Amino acid sequence: MFYVLASCLAVIMFGTSVAVEPSCPVCSKYEYQERLLERVLSNELELRNTLNKITETHAQVEDTLKAMKAESAKINDSMHALDVKRRDIDDEMKSLRKEVQEKKQELTDKVDGLLVTGVRNLTGNVQEMSTIVQSLVTQTSKELDILKGTQFCG
Ligand SMILES: *[C@@H]1O[C@H](CO)[C@@H](O)[C@H](O)[C@H]1NC(C)=O
Ligand SMILES: *[C@@H]1O[C@H](CO)[C@@H](O)[C@H](O)[C@H]1NC(C)=O
Repeated sequence: MFYVLASCLAVIMFGTSVAVEPSCPVCSKYEYQERLLERVLSNELELRNTLNKITETHAQVEDTLKAMKAESAKINDSMHALDVKRRDIDDEMKSLRKEVQEKKQELTDKVDGLLVTGVRNLTGNVQEMSTIVQSLVTQTSKELDILKGTQFCG
């Protein structure tokens, strides 16, 4: 009695299942696997594209870094060249300043020497002139005396 009931129930259930899903379960399974495969393939393609993009970006970054390094080296070289030039100019300025200082001292010494000689010459000249004037005065007074004597006698 129980077996008959179970069999009936099984038949009813099977019938319902067939009615709800007319296509065979095996086909459905394949369809699912096919869709899964498609999705996996699509994901792989997307992953490959992303990888390519990453590789490209990496290459670009590397190129940029290389260019930046080259630029940095160029700037460094320029800075060093400028430093060397600045030092050269500093040295040149120092020697020029020294030369000017020496020339100035030389000129001052020369002017001082000229002044000393000039004053000495002037002193000498004044002495010479005063001697001349003195002798002139003496001679004139003598002549005056002579003149006076002549007047006195005459
Ligand atoms: C910068 O340049 C100088 C001389 O050109 C060099 O000696 C030095 O190593 C350089 N420094 C860097 C960081 O490249
Ligand atoms: C000083 O006098 C001498 C000759 O008396 C002359 O040769 C010389 O040029 C003079 N110096 C100056 C600075 O006037």
